[in-house]
Amino acid sequence: METTLIILKPDAVQRGLIGQIISRLEDKGLQIVGAKMMQISQDLAAKHYKDHAGKPFYEGLVRFMTSSPVVVLAVRGIGAIAICRGLMGATFGSKAAAGTIRGDFGVSNSFNLIHGSDGPEAALREIGLFFQAGEVLEFKRPQDAWVYDFSGPRPE
Ligand code: RTP
Ligand code: MG
Repeated sequence: METTLIILKPDAVQRGLIGQIISRLEDKGLQIVGAKMMQISQDLAAKHYKDHAGKPFYEGLVRFMTSSPVVVLAVRGIGAIAICRGLMGATFGSKAAAGTIRGDFGVSNSFNLIHGSDGPEAALREIGLFFQAGEVLEFKRPQDAWVYDFSGPRPE
């Protein structure tokens, strides 16, 4: 099982899309194992987006991410990182395919509703930034017996 960090960005919260976006993750079969609403500080935004420091869009990105509350989620499932990136769609709302979260709910290239970790290392680092010990939970869901096929050597 993989756990990834998802952020419902300020535009998603302001536009009342929290429920619809979380539903897409849940409908897919992913498990929400951590959730909190928070306002991201300058310091946290800088740590989170450290790889983008110096890029032309960096300052605007940090201003946007700290401008209004967000919802932060830890989302678990087999292949959760890639699955979430697929559900999110391409970075720019103007280019994201219909059927994806960014493709269906937005048109902006910078106000693009959702963040998802882009790999296992990033996921581990970002979950550590946004969640304290004990805030990401382990719990069984009976429905997982129908979400995954457990009959073989490894769940599929
Ligand atoms: P994210 O990190 O937020 O999940 O998005 P991403 O991987 O799809 O895109 P990334 O390249 O990591 O960029 C981070 C965020 O910066 C904003 N951005 N604006 N105007 C621009 O050229 C531009 N490029 C990137 C977006 O909010 C993007 O999600
Ligand atoms: Mg990224």
